[in-house]
Amino acid sequence: MPRNKVTVIGAGNVGATAAQRIAEAGLADVVLVDIVEGLPQGKGLDLAEAAPVVGHDARITGANDYAATAGSDIVVVTSGLARQPGMSRDDLLLKNAGIVRSVVQQAAKHSPKAILIVVTNPLDAMCHVAMTASGFPRQRVIGMAGVLDSARFRTFIAQELGVSVEDTHAFVLGGHGDTMVPLARYSTVAGIPITELMSAERVAALEDRTRNGGAEVVALLKTGSAYYAPAAAVFEMVESILLDRKRVLPCAVLLKGEYRTKGLFVGVPVVLGAKGMERIVEIKLTTTEQAAFDRSAGAVRELVEKLPA
Ligand SMILES: NC(=O)c1ccc[n+]([C@@H]2O[C@H](COP(=O)([O-])OP(=O)(O)OC[C@H]3O[C@@H](n4cnc5c(N)ncnc54)[C@H](O)[C@@H]3O)[C@@H](O)[C@H]2O)c1
Repeated sequence: MPRNKVTVIGAGNVGATAAQRIAEAGLADVVLVDIVEGLPQGKGLDLAEAAPVVGHDARITGANDYAATAGSDIVVVTSGLARQPGMSRDDLLLKNAGIVRSVVQQAAKHSPKAILIVVTNPLDAMCHVAMTASGFPRQRVIGMAGVLDSARFRTFIAQELGVSVEDTHAFVLGGHGDTMVPLARYSTVAGIPITELMSAERVAALEDRTRNGGAEVVALLKTGSAYYAPAAAVFEMVESILLDRKRVLPCAVLLKGEYRTKGLFVGVPVVLGAKGMERIVEIKLTTTEQAAFDRSAGAVRELVEKLPA
């Protein structure tokens, strides 16, 4: 039986690190694609040459065109630009929308049955672009943000309480940005809500740090943004799909009335399995939580309305 095949578009920091994780776990053969000539081929070759030392047989190759990606089970989209000096957020939105549209159209043509995992920012808006460009059903267009945001929340909770990250679970809803909604009452250590383990002030401080998690790393790095944790998050989603694990993970998916939201990609807990997004897990939100969720969805809508029709 042939190994699964995963295409990673964008051989930059997030893309190459995700490719490394997927190949080194022996989960799938990986094709790295980038617009820069030589970059995906060079990184692909370097990663292939690590295989004898690491001890895996997954094939990892690089390409600038999409013929090599044909028949992929999963396509991860990380291609995009970072915001340059003088570039507004709206300029970035339109530039990355153009990139995501073009790469997804080409990838979908060669892998019509693939599941798309979108990573490029602004995340929720790029999911809309990817869905339109591919024509795929909502089960097969999934945005990565919630796994990363909740991993950050888990890290901060575990550090605060001096406990293992493994026993720490966190629940983050909403769009990927300042308006994300960390839900403390569903964030637990060994099943105990964190609201019983620390003061309301500390909970609020950790939620705030989670909201600014991406900016905190950017401020330290000065050039570039986080990629180890984002790549680990992509890996967790890819693994759940390829091994049909049915993990319950927070992902950006198109809502059709769930969480009182229609026609927008927003982060909610979903079951990830061989068919992609197999089910949305709905919970009843309090009035305050629903208001925060609506605000977050409103921020996504604002961006989507700026996209060309
Ligand atoms: N969703 C999240 O939680 C999350 C987390 C981290 C990063 N991101 C986003 O992921 C994206 C990638 O981040 P990064 O740090 O890897 O950036 P990066 O600059 O290191 O890599 C981006 C790559 O995309 C390539 N590219 C640009 N246009 C292309 C095209 N038309 N076709 C193919 N490749 C193209 C570039 O050449 C570059 O190699 C950014 O948009 C970033 O904001 C999202």
